[in-house]
Amino acid sequence: MIYAIQAGGPLRGAVECPGDKSISHRYAMLAALARGESELRYFAGSEDCQSTLRCLRGLGMKIRTEDTSVFISGNGLRGLKPPTALLDAGNSGTTMRLLSGILAGQSFDSTLSGDESLSGRPMRRIIQPLSLMGARISSREGGLPPLEITGSNLRGIRYALPVASAQVKSCLLLAGLYADGVTGVGEKVATRDHTEIALRQFGGTVRYRGNWIEVEPEPALEARRLEIPGDLSGAAFFIVAAALVPGSELLLPRVGLNPRRRALIDYLDRAGVRVWAENESESAGEARGDLRVRYDPAFLGKRLPPIRAELTAALIDEIPVLAVLGSQAGGLEIRDAHELRVKESDRIAAVVANLCAMGAEVEEHPDGLTVTGRQRLLGTHVETKGDHRIAMAFAVAGLTASGVTAINRAECADVSFPGFYDALARARSDLQPQSSDLNPGN
Ligand code: S3P
Repeated sequence: MIYAIQAGGPLRGAVECPGDKSISHRYAMLAALARGESELRYFAGSEDCQSTLRCLRGLGMKIRTEDTSVFISGNGLRGLKPPTALLDAGNSGTTMRLLSGILAGQSFDSTLSGDESLSGRPMRRIIQPLSLMGARISSREGGLPPLEITGSNLRGIRYALPVASAQVKSCLLLAGLYADGVTGVGEKVATRDHTEIALRQFGGTVRYRGNWIEVEPEPALEARRLEIPGDLSGAAFFIVAAALVPGSELLLPRVGLNPRRRALIDYLDRAGVRVWAENESESAGEARGDLRVRYDPAFLGKRLPPIRAELTAALIDEIPVLAVLGSQAGGLEIRDAHELRVKESDRIAAVVANLCAMGAEVEEHPDGLTVTGRQRLLGTHVETKGDHRIAMAFAVAGLTASGVTAINRAECADVSFPGFYDALARARSDLQPQSSDLNPGN
């Protein structure tokens, strides 16, 4: 589908974000390894999290959905059943990498595959440490999916992560549940810790020793009733949109504000964007709160603080939309973002190509980009490469551009934010009729 969008009136009201994608994956997997029926409220409807549920069903799990809740009946750590077909992780790197850790320690064999984008993403980063634990995994040349996993007895290892990756860390911690001793993962750069928090919630034992995270094997995990906060990485598109469109004010209720994820809010605050959290609370170890963002042009004249080193890792999923923001504020330099080249698409290349197509001045670096500030974007055809965060970032760009911005393969937004375009249209109080004119048949 091509989604056409153009500038218009302010964004106002409340926007409900889908359940956090990272937390939903982890809760679903741990519920499958726990004993009893877990209820996961506000479980993400995103295609990625549905891929995790599909794989868990393929492993014999009974899963039902009622309203926004997903119920998963687990049979304990050894309760998964041998799959009778390929396990399809779709577009989801988190599904493939985290599930590989669990599957490596089973007494049966399995194969994990994915769509075209996932089939091109690097898996050596999990194959290598899992092999050190005694796992047997074969892949296509270059460590690419599909992954054929032969169930094995695993041993606990200590492994220092060479790349900052919550997916690799989580894969190893989950494999550690099946090891013959303690598994330790060292991280120089702190990444999102939803797996560590969730493991404790389900009854696992996780310890921190300096930069090392250790997990005890063979825990008796118990079913839980948990409520998933809204996805801050999805909220980011609305926050940036409201920061850019004159007269906007949005409320984003009960969004996840885990300290390892909320770097976006602190960063935007530092940049001078008027965004703040209200009614902060915590549930099951995960912070949450209502976010409010109000348009205030004062920040637009200033260069955004550079994004580099540890900040890059902390903002990794928000960088595409922050690059769009940088083009409207006083410019932005993004560095140390090699990882962005191996996401659902090469996000550095995609952001540079689309900003250039919209008439912006951008310099591409091997590890990032520098975008010149205060540029008038011109509506044009945006090439998403089927990458959800590129589609949504450039829908936001379209709100500030002259003329019509046409986003191809726009439906890929469903990977993390089903209903994104409807939510955007609802927030743009004055634009509903025009937006449906622009999108006949959608
Ligand atoms: C995720 C970790 C990050 C992030 C991805 C979700 C997770 O990936 O980009 O969207 O849920 O663990 P990496 O671990 O590859 O950095």
